[in-house]
This record gives sequence, structure tokens and C-alpha cells, in this order.
Amino acid sequence: MTQIQKYPLAWRLLHWLMALMIFALIPIGITMAERAEHGIWGALTNTLYNWHKLIGFTVLLLMVVRVVMKVWLKGPAYPDTLPRHLQLAAHSLHHLLYVMLVLTPLLGWAGVTAYPALVTVAGYYLPAMPFVPVDEALANRLFAIHGAFAITLGVLIVGHIGAALKHLIDKDGLFRRML
Ligand code: HEM
Repeated sequence: MTQIQKYPLAWRLLHWLMALMIFALIPIGITMAERAEHGIWGALTNTLYNWHKLIGFTVLLLMVVRVVMKVWLKGPAYPDTLPRHLQLAAHSLHHLLYVMLVLTPLLGWAGVTAYPALVTVAGYYLPAMPFVPVDEALANRLFAIHGAFAITLGVLIVGHIGAALKHLIDKDGLFRRML
């Protein structure tokens, strides 16, 4: 039987914590943007925006930790039983997810800085992104790109979950590396 080596504990904890946050962010983001587009303002819409900004900014901060962790702690190598082309596909998808998980919140943060709409939950303000001017037209362009990136990220995550489930069904031990 192939010996399976798990990811370090801190890496696994961060993975599942961020997965939960992103699962919340995407539906909250779509709902609040829909409500705003239909002119439905009020306490609920504001609450959704406030939480979205706070959770999204936390994802950005956690990504800094995650990138440092990826560079410093080596993840376990793939077993030789996994074909080379699948190892390459997994590596490429994981790197793309990292890039999108940095760019998507950065664009959201830049958008709320330009708008400006930095207030979040309980009156807590996010810092303004350095060098981003206050300019509503720029903010709207940044939000449009942020939305497109977030949806692309959602599609990539569906692919990522599909691959993970395949490993779970195949019982090849790869799913357990992240448990
Ligand atoms: C990984 C992190 C993030 C994900 C996955 C994400 C996801 C989304 C999604 C799916 C939407 C809806 C797009 C649409 O339907 O048009 C959205 C909108 C939005 N996001 Fe994020 N977001 C993230 C981080 C952030 C951050 C850090 C901020 C600000 C600090 C932010 C601020 C906003 C704002 C203001 C909107 C609404 C834009 C509009 O009304 O047009 N997001 N986000």
C-alpha cells in the first residue's frame, strides 16, 4: 500500500478555514451585488456588504500567511502512482487558485478604497489601499473586474472540488492528505 504523507497541520487548518470563508463570500457577494443593482438598499444589504468586505480582507491577510507557508514548509510530494500529467494539472490548478485568491480580494479592496466605502462590521474601517485615488468611475471598473475574477475563481473551485471528490471516491489516499 502507498504511504500517504499529510500536509502540515497549520496548512490543513488554513485550507479549511479559508474554504469556509470563500464559500460564504461568493453567495454573499452575488446577493449583495444583485440587491444593489435592483436598488434594494437597507439594513440587510449593508450588513451583507460589511461582512463581505471584512471576510474578504481577512482572506487577503490569510493569503499572505499561506504564501509564506507554501514557500517555507514543503507540501508532501505526490505519490508515483499518480500519473505525471495529473500531477502537472494539479500543480497548475493550485498555483492558479493562489494567484486568483490574491488578485480577487486585492481588486475588491482597491474598489472600496476608490469608491470610497471602507466601513465594515461594527463600524470598523479597513485601511485605504496605498496609491489608489478616490474616483467613483475607477471604483466601478474595479468592481466589475473583481466580480469577473470572483466568478472565475468560483469555476476553478468547482474544478478543484471535483478533482478532490474523484480522489475520495478512488480511495487513493490523496484526499486524506488535506484532512
Ligand atoms: C477571495 C475573496 C473574495 C471573493 C471570492 C469575492 C467574491 C465576490 C463576488 C462573487 C461578488 C459579486 C460579483 C457580482 O455578482 O457582480 C463580489 C462583489 C463585491 N466585492 Fe468581493 N470577494 C472577495 C473579496 C473582497 C474584498 C477584500 C472586498 C473589499 C474589501 C470586496 C468587496 C466587494 C464589493 C464592494 C462588491 C460589490 C461590487 C458591486 O456592487 O458591483 N470583495 N465579491
